[in-house]
Amino acid sequence: MFVTFEGLDGSGKTTQVELLRKLLEDEGREVVVTREPGGTELGELVREVVLHRDLEIGAWAEAALFAAARSQLVGAVIRPALERGADVLCDRYIDSSLAYQGIARGLGVDPVLELNMQATGGLLPDRTVLLLVDPAGSRRRTGEAWDRIEREDDDFVVQVDRAYRELAELFPSRILAVDGTQAPERLAETIHGQLRQRS
Ligand code: TYD
Repeated sequence: MFVTFEGLDGSGKTTQVELLRKLLEDEGREVVVTREPGGTELGELVREVVLHRDLEIGAWAEAALFAAARSQLVGAVIRPALERGADVLCDRYIDSSLAYQGIARGLGVDPVLELNMQATGGLLPDRTVLLLVDPAGSRRRTGEAWDRIEREDDDFVVQVDRAYRELAELFPSRILAVDGTQAPERLAETIHGQLRQRS
Protein backbone atom coordinates (compact mmCIF):
# COMPACT_ATOMS: atom_id res chain seq x y z
CA MET A 1 0.00 0.00 0.00
CA PHE A 2 1.29 3.43 -0.98
CA VAL A 3 0.08 6.19 1.34
CA THR A 4 1.04 9.85 1.11
CA PHE A 5 0.52 12.63 3.65
CA GLU A 6 -0.28 16.17 2.65
CA GLY A 7 -1.06 19.47 4.31
CA LEU A 8 0.36 22.87 5.13
CA ASP A 9 3.76 23.26 6.74
CA GLY A 10 3.34 22.47 10.41
CA SER A 11 0.15 20.42 9.94
CA GLY A 12 1.62 17.40 11.73
CA LYS A 13 2.41 15.20 8.70
CA THR A 14 5.70 13.96 10.04
CA THR A 15 4.17 12.96 13.39
CA GLN A 16 1.33 11.11 11.66
CA VAL A 17 3.73 9.29 9.33
CA GLU A 18 5.69 8.06 12.34
CA LEU A 19 2.58 7.01 14.28
CA LEU A 20 1.17 5.12 11.28
CA ARG A 21 4.54 3.48 10.70
CA LYS A 22 4.40 2.14 14.24
CA LEU A 23 0.82 0.86 13.88
CA LEU A 24 1.66 -0.94 10.61
CA GLU A 25 4.91 -2.37 11.96
CA ASP A 26 3.00 -3.71 14.96
CA GLU A 27 0.96 -5.70 12.43
CA GLY A 28 4.21 -7.19 11.12
CA ARG A 29 4.32 -5.09 7.93
CA GLU A 30 7.55 -3.84 6.38
CA VAL A 31 7.18 -0.07 6.21
CA VAL A 32 9.34 2.31 4.18
CA VAL A 33 9.11 5.96 5.18
CA THR A 34 10.30 8.73 2.95
CA ARG A 35 9.82 12.43 2.36
CA GLU A 36 9.73 14.96 -0.43
CA PRO A 37 11.70 16.69 -1.64
CA GLY A 38 14.42 14.31 -0.52
CA GLY A 39 14.77 10.60 0.03
CA THR A 40 17.57 10.23 -2.53
CA GLU A 41 20.87 12.03 -3.03
CA LEU A 42 19.38 13.98 -5.95
CA GLY A 43 16.25 14.72 -3.93
CA GLU A 44 18.25 16.14 -1.04
CA LEU A 45 20.18 18.35 -3.48
CA VAL A 46 16.93 19.55 -5.03
CA ARG A 47 15.65 20.28 -1.52
CA GLU A 48 18.73 22.40 -0.86
CA VAL A 49 18.41 24.27 -4.17
CA VAL A 50 14.65 24.85 -4.12
CA LEU A 51 14.18 25.58 -0.44
CA HIS A 52 17.40 26.85 1.03
CA ARG A 53 19.29 28.82 -1.62
CA ASP A 54 18.60 32.45 -2.26
CA LEU A 55 17.88 31.92 -5.97
CA GLU A 56 15.36 33.23 -8.42
CA ILE A 57 13.32 30.18 -9.47
CA GLY A 58 10.35 30.52 -11.81
CA ALA A 59 7.15 28.58 -11.16
CA TRP A 60 7.72 26.02 -13.93
CA ALA A 61 11.36 25.60 -12.94
CA GLU A 62 10.18 24.94 -9.39
CA ALA A 63 7.57 22.40 -10.58
CA ALA A 64 10.15 20.68 -12.79
CA LEU A 65 12.70 20.45 -9.97
CA PHE A 66 10.15 18.87 -7.62
CA ALA A 67 9.13 16.48 -10.43
CA ALA A 68 12.79 15.54 -11.04
CA ALA A 69 13.30 14.72 -7.37
CA ARG A 70 10.03 12.74 -7.36
CA SER A 71 10.99 10.77 -10.45
CA GLN A 72 14.23 9.69 -8.81
CA LEU A 73 12.51 8.79 -5.55
CA VAL A 74 9.91 6.65 -7.31
CA GLY A 75 12.51 4.76 -9.32
CA ALA A 76 15.05 4.26 -6.56
CA VAL A 77 12.90 3.83 -3.44
CA ILE A 78 9.12 3.72 -3.85
CA ARG A 79 8.63 1.25 -6.70
CA PRO A 80 11.22 -1.25 -5.45
CA ALA A 81 9.61 -1.18 -1.99
CA LEU A 82 6.08 -1.64 -3.34
CA GLU A 83 7.29 -4.46 -5.59
CA ARG A 84 8.63 -6.41 -2.63
CA GLY A 85 5.33 -5.95 -0.82
CA ALA A 86 6.31 -3.23 1.65
CA ASP A 87 4.02 -0.36 2.61
CA VAL A 88 5.38 3.04 1.63
CA LEU A 89 4.53 6.17 3.59
CA CYS A 90 5.60 9.41 1.94
CA ASP A 91 5.59 12.82 3.60
CA ARG A 92 4.34 14.91 0.60
CA TYR A 93 4.03 13.70 -2.99
CA ILE A 94 2.27 14.75 -6.22
CA ASP A 95 -0.53 16.63 -4.44
CA SER A 96 2.05 19.06 -3.00
CA SER A 97 2.95 20.02 -6.57
CA LEU A 98 -0.73 20.23 -7.54
CA ALA A 99 -1.53 22.45 -4.54
CA TYR A 100 1.56 24.69 -4.40
CA GLN A 101 2.64 24.90 -8.06
CA GLY A 102 -0.58 23.92 -9.87
CA ILE A 103 -3.10 25.97 -7.90
CA ALA A 104 -1.34 28.46 -5.59
CA ARG A 105 1.28 29.45 -8.18
CA GLY A 106 -1.29 29.21 -10.96
CA LEU A 107 0.31 26.70 -13.34
CA GLY A 108 -2.90 24.66 -13.48
CA VAL A 109 -3.74 21.25 -12.01
CA ASP A 110 -3.85 19.41 -15.34
CA PRO A 111 -0.44 20.45 -16.73
CA VAL A 112 1.30 19.83 -13.39
CA LEU A 113 -0.44 16.46 -13.04
CA GLU A 114 0.62 15.58 -16.59
CA LEU A 115 4.26 16.48 -15.87
CA ASN A 116 4.19 14.36 -12.72
CA MET A 117 2.46 11.39 -14.35
CA GLN A 118 5.27 11.36 -16.92
CA ALA A 119 7.95 11.74 -14.24
CA THR A 120 6.61 8.93 -12.04
CA GLY A 121 5.45 6.50 -14.72
CA GLY A 122 1.89 7.21 -13.59
CA LEU A 123 2.35 6.19 -9.95
CA LEU A 124 -0.46 7.65 -7.85
CA PRO A 125 -0.88 6.79 -4.15
CA ASP A 126 -3.49 4.26 -3.07
CA ARG A 127 -4.53 6.73 -0.42
CA THR A 128 -3.60 10.31 0.44
CA VAL A 129 -4.20 11.65 3.93
CA LEU A 130 -4.80 15.40 3.94
CA LEU A 131 -4.30 17.01 7.34
CA LEU A 132 -6.43 20.12 7.56
CA VAL A 133 -5.36 22.85 9.98
CA ASP A 134 -6.07 26.54 10.35
CA PRO A 135 -3.67 28.37 7.98
CA ALA A 136 -2.86 30.98 10.67
CA GLY A 137 -1.98 28.20 13.12
CA SER A 138 0.26 26.55 10.53
CA ARG A 139 2.18 29.77 10.14
CA ARG A 140 2.72 30.07 13.90
CA ARG A 141 3.90 26.49 14.24
CA THR A 142 6.51 26.71 11.48
CA GLY A 143 8.22 29.42 13.60
CA GLU A 144 11.34 31.23 12.52
CA ALA A 145 13.21 28.83 10.25
CA TRP A 146 11.19 29.51 7.11
CA ASP A 147 12.34 28.12 3.77
CA ARG A 148 11.97 29.93 0.43
CA ILE A 149 8.38 28.76 -0.05
CA GLU A 150 7.34 29.39 3.55
CA ARG A 151 8.56 32.98 3.20
CA GLU A 152 5.64 33.67 0.84
CA ASP A 153 3.01 35.91 2.45
CA ASP A 154 0.00 34.80 4.54
CA ASP A 155 -2.21 34.99 1.48
CA PHE A 156 -0.14 32.27 -0.19
CA VAL A 157 -0.71 29.93 2.76
CA VAL A 158 -4.46 30.59 2.57
CA GLN A 159 -4.33 29.80 -1.16
CA VAL A 160 -2.49 26.53 -0.52
CA ASP A 161 -5.08 25.60 2.11
CA ARG A 162 -7.89 26.27 -0.39
CA ALA A 163 -5.94 24.39 -3.05
CA TYR A 164 -5.77 21.27 -0.89
CA ARG A 165 -9.50 21.43 -0.16
CA GLU A 166 -10.14 21.73 -3.91
CA LEU A 167 -7.97 18.68 -4.59
CA ALA A 168 -9.91 16.70 -1.97
CA GLU A 169 -13.06 17.45 -3.96
CA LEU A 170 -11.42 16.60 -7.28
CA PHE A 171 -10.10 13.24 -6.05
CA PRO A 172 -12.61 12.13 -3.41
CA SER A 173 -11.86 8.40 -3.61
CA ARG A 174 -8.12 8.88 -3.12
CA ILE A 175 -7.85 11.84 -0.74
CA LEU A 176 -8.99 11.40 2.84
CA ALA A 177 -9.30 14.83 4.47
CA VAL A 178 -9.04 14.76 8.26
CA ASP A 179 -9.04 17.33 11.05
CA GLY A 180 -5.34 17.78 11.79
CA THR A 181 -5.99 19.55 15.08
CA GLN A 182 -7.12 16.38 16.92
CA ALA A 183 -4.88 14.65 19.44
CA PRO A 184 -2.14 12.94 17.36
CA GLU A 185 -2.63 9.39 18.76
CA ARG A 186 -6.39 9.48 18.24
CA LEU A 187 -5.97 10.83 14.74
CA ALA A 188 -3.45 8.09 13.89
CA GLU A 189 -5.96 5.44 15.03
CA THR A 190 -8.66 7.02 12.85
CA ILE A 191 -6.35 7.11 9.81
CA HIS A 192 -5.25 3.53 10.42
CA GLY A 193 -8.89 2.40 10.66
CA GLN A 194 -9.81 4.16 7.42
CA LEU A 195 -6.88 2.64 5.57
CA ARG A 196 -7.79 -0.85 6.76
CA GLN A 197 -11.34 -0.41 5.47
CA ARG A 198 -9.89 0.40 2.07
CA SER A 199 -7.25 -2.29 1.72
P1 TYD B 1 9.42 20.90 4.20
O1 TYD B 1 10.46 21.53 5.04
O2 TYD B 1 9.52 19.47 3.86
O3 TYD B 1 8.02 21.24 4.79
P2 TYD B 1 7.09 20.32 5.64
O4 TYD B 1 7.93 19.87 6.79
O5 TYD B 1 5.96 21.17 6.00
O6 TYD B 1 6.69 19.20 4.70
O7 TYD B 1 9.34 21.79 2.91
C1 TYD B 1 8.72 21.42 1.81
C2 TYD B 1 8.26 22.70 1.14
O8 TYD B 1 8.25 22.50 -0.25
C3 TYD B 1 6.87 23.08 1.57
O9 TYD B 1 6.77 24.47 1.75
C4 TYD B 1 6.03 22.67 0.38
C5 TYD B 1 6.96 22.76 -0.78
N1 TYD B 1 6.70 21.79 -1.86
C6 TYD B 1 6.15 22.26 -3.05
O10 TYD B 1 5.89 23.47 -3.20
N2 TYD B 1 5.91 21.38 -4.07
C7 TYD B 1 6.20 20.06 -3.96
O11 TYD B 1 5.97 19.27 -4.91
C8 TYD B 1 6.78 19.58 -2.72
C9 TYD B 1 7.12 18.13 -2.55
C10 TYD B 1 7.01 20.49 -1.70
